[in-house]
Amino acid sequence: MNHLIGGISSGGRALPEIDGYAFKVERSQGACLWGNDGQQYVDTAMGFGATMLGHAAPKVLAPVIQALQRGPMPSFAHDLEAQAAHALTQNTGKLSQVIFLNTGSEAVHLACRTARVATGRQRIARFAASYDGWFDQVAFGNAGSSEAQMPPSATRPEREGMLLLRYNDFSDAEQLFRDCPDLAAVIIEPVLANAGCIEPASGYLKHLSDLAHQHGALVILDEVLMGFRLHAGLAGHLLGVDADLATVGKAIGSGIPVAALLGTPEVMQLFEQKRIVRAGTYSGNPPACAAVVATLEQLGQRDYLPLIKRGNQLRSDIIHAFADEGLALSSSGYGSVFTFWPSDKAPETYAEAASIANAQWSLDLHVALRAEKVMTMPFAFGRVYLTFAHDEAAMQALLNGYKAAARGMAVKAA
Ligand SMILES: Cc1ncc(COP(=O)(O)O)c(C=O)c1O
Repeated sequence: MNHLIGGISSGGRALPEIDGYAFKVERSQGACLWGNDGQQYVDTAMGFGATMLGHAAPKVLAPVIQALQRGPMPSFAHDLEAQAAHALTQNTGKLSQVIFLNTGSEAVHLACRTARVATGRQRIARFAASYDGWFDQVAFGNAGSSEAQMPPSATRPEREGMLLLRYNDFSDAEQLFRDCPDLAAVIIEPVLANAGCIEPASGYLKHLSDLAHQHGALVILDEVLMGFRLHAGLAGHLLGVDADLATVGKAIGSGIPVAALLGTPEVMQLFEQKRIVRAGTYSGNPPACAAVVATLEQLGQRDYLPLIKRGNQLRSDIIHAFADEGLALSSSGYGSVFTFWPSDKAPETYAEAASIANAQWSLDLHVALRAEKVMTMPFAFGRVYLTFAHDEAAMQALLNGYKAAARGMAVKAA
């Protein structure tokens, strides 16, 4: 009898069985993972973005192990917590105040609570087809759901005070504030990464954050996925967002569970005044904070541009390889996180993405790549994550894998 529901604790991380074989990871290191089939794979899922340094980064693991040995749960304040907050806020501008949490979902939950107390308002808006965690309030309207489609004539979806708005649609943002001038906040996933890395249209994020501020709403940047992935800081800051609060996770801990809520002193003082409830047995625990300190030290020494350039070259080479086989392929996103689409042109809106997305194609590509010892996320809207551990050899292995997959898919399509 299988006692573990679906064989894994998070539905989104399940891999399809191939020929009745359930793949399990035995270990992961650098850009690779090793399976229970005895094979080594070049990985592109990379903890769903939970590391920029590669799996099991030695310079992060060593201080984490030391923190564990000194006691993982000391109950009271410890030095690493303040050090981690200091390290994080060297990269986040006026968002200089930190509360550590364990997961991105918790961080978004606390961000929403904070915005409600700060403004005395209740309703919040977020992008249709984004993903802001799995807690009740935000767990609807994700990519692939019926609510995410938001046809222009339909009533704006709303659940438990959470409204949806259409990403990259300037006029929908204006309509939102005409219809609901009393929002507490807008949650901005700066790149619609969870819908397949749809990039923001020029000026869109600034327009939205300006509109929010003009109407007295706070701007929450949800950077759990994009934070520290394009540079050692927030993606939204590169893309024109003026945020009051931000959530980070994943890349700041190199795979050790940790997340944080960041905010301006003006907003975060509400916690000091005890006007907002916060708690968490494990929040800010020493191993998590050791991971943040060590990760940010490493990321601060890395040059993101060459990685992003190499990733962009890989995207372009793979698209050419598919074209050589007569197969349409395009890609959205950035060199360190991107999505492939079975189309000549990458989507610029969720409506376009939804019309191109093809679950069977994504699964076929995953199966073909797995045969080539390349591991990918198996579903439409999935992403390829590249890290500083993806060296030239790993990039070449990826290119070879995709070329072989393209050949196989072309033969199948013929
Ligand atoms: C943008 C975004 N926000 C929030 C979350 C939730 O984070 P967690 O899975 O750590 O709860 C995710 C997770 O993928 C995410 O991508």
